[in-house]
Amino acid sequence: MPVKSQKRNFIIAGNWKMNPDSLADAKTIFAAISRKARSARHTVVVLAPPAPFLSAGASRSGRAGTAACLAIQDVSEHVSGAFTGSVSARQARSAGAEYAIIGHSERRKAGDTDMIVSQKVRQALDAGLRTIVCVGETERDPHAHYLRTVREQILAVVGALDKKQVRSLTHSLIVAYEPVWAVGKSYDTAPKPSDIHEMSIYIKKVIAESLGKKIGIKIPVLYGGSVDLENSKAILKDGGIDGLLVGRQSLDSKDFGGMIDYADSL
Ligand code: PGA
Repeated sequence: MPVKSQKRNFIIAGNWKMNPDSLADAKTIFAAISRKARSARHTVVVLAPPAPFLSAGASRSGRAGTAACLAIQDVSEHVSGAFTGSVSARQARSAGAEYAIIGHSERRKAGDTDMIVSQKVRQALDAGLRTIVCVGETERDPHAHYLRTVREQILAVVGALDKKQVRSLTHSLIVAYEPVWAVGKSYDTAPKPSDIHEMSIYIKKVIAESLGKKIGIKIPVLYGGSVDLENSKAILKDGGIDGLLVGRQSLDSKDFGGMIDYADSL
């Protein structure tokens, strides 16, 4: 399907976290969202189910114009071996994931430091996964120290990449700006589109300073944190971002489908 150049190409990603409870429910949501994704012409839909449900979604995975792509919600910082309970990037790739979410605030809270996040990103990239790395401050202070937090999170990742990883970065790295204070909160907590726009420019600038302008401009930036169908429209339209990373509302196929439709109409 040719992509019309005047249309914006968004990525609408859904992070199911530790939901739903059953494979049967996961299949129902996969089916509904895949139908929506198939009708989208300019929008890539990515779903991050819990790892045990990856293969159930794998048969439905694809690209814009087909169906939803799959993501793993986290990977191990190790390649393989004696790490009980962990899932490697290669295993996720082999089970059908094309994307990985790394450095989500819930993983950072559980102990992922900037160093571990950077190791996980490298594992994901080496396994051929497009990597959505989450960054975001825990609070917005009046002196704008939060900018430094985001900068450090980004530099910890991009500064540790090898030449080969950097060469393919514009295709393989995506940054999701997820301010921790807005994740999992009421939907009026999400920042204003103008604030999101500002942060998106800042993120691209930090990447550009480290890896060059060409790369900085091309790395897609998503927004995540208390996005619902209602606020998603202004964020997509005026937030200066390349898409959304949606938590709770990605399990509601009607509302998540509405976001896909809206993104595809822009
Ligand atoms: P939320 O979660 O949309 O439920 O706030 C977003 C996320 O954690 O990615």
